[in-house]
Amino acid sequence: MLEKIQESEQYISEQLQGPKPTIGLILGSGLGILAEEIENPVTISYSDIPHFPQSTVAGHKGQLVIGELEGKNVVAMQGRFHYYEGYDMHHVTFPVRVMKQLGVEQLLVTNAAGGINESFDPGDLMIIQDHINQMGDNPLIGKNINELGPRFPDMSEAYDRDLIKLAEAAAADLNMSVRKGVYVGNTGPTYETGSEVKMLRTLGGDAVGMSTVPEVIVANHAGMDVLGISCISNMAAGILDQPLSHDEVIETTEKVKQQFIQLVKQILQTM
Ligand code: HPA
Repeated sequence: MLEKIQESEQYISEQLQGPKPTIGLILGSGLGILAEEIENPVTISYSDIPHFPQSTVAGHKGQLVIGELEGKNVVAMQGRFHYYEGYDMHHVTFPVRVMKQLGVEQLLVTNAAGGINESFDPGDLMIIQDHINQMGDNPLIGKNINELGPRFPDMSEAYDRDLIKLAEAAAADLNMSVRKGVYVGNTGPTYETGSEVKMLRTLGGDAVGMSTVPEVIVANHAGMDVLGISCISNMAAGILDQPLSHDEVIETTEKVKQQFIQLVKQILQTM
């Protein structure tokens, strides 16, 4: 595993002329557009990187974009790997480990999620305060690689408090109202039943999605500071009397992507 991470990192580093990235961005469904704003970009297709898995979902590009955004050196994943695609947790989180190897210390993860909190509306942006792992798996299962992090990582501040404050301040600067809440990670690919959504609400969830949790676990293992933002693309099943579709998810993220981009850029300015 360690050699694979190093070989991936080495390949990526060889493509770079400028400085190495210190901030990682994982861009979820419909939000990959932000990577197009990166200046002096070096774009590397996942298929060219040794040991990298490949992306298969519509709406997800499979490439790294490395360059400058708001004066910060960033590496963006345009498209991520989902557990429901059939990748195991080690593959889903491999890019985070490569980012760490590249020198990334802060990770900003984004996703589309269904709103469980009834006060939310589709199109809201939610700063992730904490998560609940409902995936029934964990990327750190297996022999611990001590070079990468501890056997039993602390998750009491899985989402960095200072980064949350900074994100709230950035939203306030933009006069943008944002939500804050707990993200529940389910495996998918099915959306939830109405009863499951009720359960997740009882458990303390505010939004539910099919990503993010594995990457955030590995980022914490690696000692990175994490900030998460969800785009509430729909209300979760059973909250409104209507079926869910991936088209709705894409449509809503399309509508709010300019706002989302603005927020992330404002956050990056102060990171
Ligand atoms: N449930 C799970 N994942 C999602 C949803 C949802 O309602 N919306 C976007 N991703």
